[in-house]
Amino acid sequence: MTIPRFYSTASTVSARLTSLLKNRDLIKTTSYINGKWASPTNTTTSTTTFTVTDPALYPSPQAELATVQSSTREDFQHAIAAAESAFASFKSTTGRYRSNLLYSLYQAMLDNKQDLATLIALENGKPMSDAMGEVVYAASFFQWFAEESSRITGSIIASSNPTSRILSLKQPIGVCAIMTPWNFPLAMITRKLGAAIAAGCTTVIKPASETPLSALALAHLVENAQFPAGVVNVLVNDDAAMVGKLLCEDPRVRKISFTGSTRVGKLLMQQSSSTLKKLSFELGGNAPFIVFDDANVDKAVAGAIASKFRSSGQTCVCANRIFVHESIYDEFAAKFVEKLKSDVVLGAGLDQGVTHGPLIHQKSMDKVVSHIEDATSKGATLLLGGSKRPDLGDNFHDLTVLGDVTPEMLIFQEETFGPVAPLIKFTSEDQVVQLANDTEVGLAGYFYSKDISRVFRVAEAMDTGMIGVNTGAISEAALPFGGVKESGFGREGSMYGVDDYMVIKGVVLGDV
Ligand code: SIN
Repeated sequence: MTIPRFYSTASTVSARLTSLLKNRDLIKTTSYINGKWASPTNTTTSTTTFTVTDPALYPSPQAELATVQSSTREDFQHAIAAAESAFASFKSTTGRYRSNLLYSLYQAMLDNKQDLATLIALENGKPMSDAMGEVVYAASFFQWFAEESSRITGSIIASSNPTSRILSLKQPIGVCAIMTPWNFPLAMITRKLGAAIAAGCTTVIKPASETPLSALALAHLVENAQFPAGVVNVLVNDDAAMVGKLLCEDPRVRKISFTGSTRVGKLLMQQSSSTLKKLSFELGGNAPFIVFDDANVDKAVAGAIASKFRSSGQTCVCANRIFVHESIYDEFAAKFVEKLKSDVVLGAGLDQGVTHGPLIHQKSMDKVVSHIEDATSKGATLLLGGSKRPDLGDNFHDLTVLGDVTPEMLIFQEETFGPVAPLIKFTSEDQVVQLANDTEVGLAGYFYSKDISRVFRVAEAMDTGMIGVNTGAISEAALPFGGVKESGFGREGSMYGVDDYMVIKGVVLGDV
């Protein structure tokens, strides 16, 4: 293929970023396409760059971490062509071979844990302890799928014709486009990529433009692990709408896996209809967290804090509505606020002792502020926080607790994606299950109860794809991760994750 060449050497790396990493080879500022880093000789890379910033330092000029080069439409097409060409041979590799590739990546991530966590903490803002946790979580998907890769099995099915037999063969679907968000810059890639590789698929990955540096560092580890060229392509670009449309409409891409908002999921589904792609979507949530009157209140308080304020409330599975039985409401609210007051240290991710970081950007801040203002104007009481903390930087917001929240308030109806915990009083199991399910989305839900009959009853009645019972922390590689209703479809991780990247072929053997 002849490719026109335009190139600018405009990408830059700040001295701060360079000084903070031990393995500087992890710092990359151009896309990784067909086994090569974008350069004047092999891509159509334009002069367009975009800036990656540290949300903790925004809006200071010191916030700038790097400028990275945007891939063009032609680069994406080149990457799809490379992935299609690589698929021709990669689809026939053995599970054991792919397992070894995944194990190498797992080990490489752990070997570079500190640096990868530093990149995450810098571009996402989460505290270093959380960032280290994310690296281990992200790597665990490669370990998990390395184990799944050699265990892909079909079946033999009895035919209604006595002289025939039916075989079901599982085969990789083809080129997969992977689009990921900024809240888990590595884990949302590895949960998809691990399954795709285990299945024998090839990939074109578009990470969020807020957090491309972690994704490009992962591409460097892919290069070192000697994946065949074209199997993993990582392309950065800050025009998500252009890239999403291109990937959805290209007939060579057979599957789209996306984590992000329900609004964008609906658009991608529409755009994929002309080529009828297989889709896996992990979209928005509005997680209920129910504390029944028979719960252990101290444990429920700890679980609610862990769930609500993980990554400062910026995960799709964060508790969004905390329902507390009226008989323990006052005790729960007092202990919840007390524990936050004593345990929380707000600050920049890299600062020692910090437990909670900033919001990613001002758009998130606007939503947080609007939810608090709307709730308090409609009668909610401010139990903790409530104001921005400009002394720390424009993206910081105090962890906030609202009491007496009711269903008319925006914070009840919409995912806040920020550090605000709304407490809602309830009186009966039937009422709270009805309130919990009163939303178009259903990703995660949680409840605390010691009554085993209730545990089964409520777990079965809640309209969510995942439920935490007596725990606020559900995420791990073994969990079938995904939602119902407008939270999307498909399951990631677990023994089901690989199936999303495969098709079943039925083979009828006649004349047996
Ligand atoms: C998400 O927020 O989309 C994923 C959270 C997780 O994997 O725990």
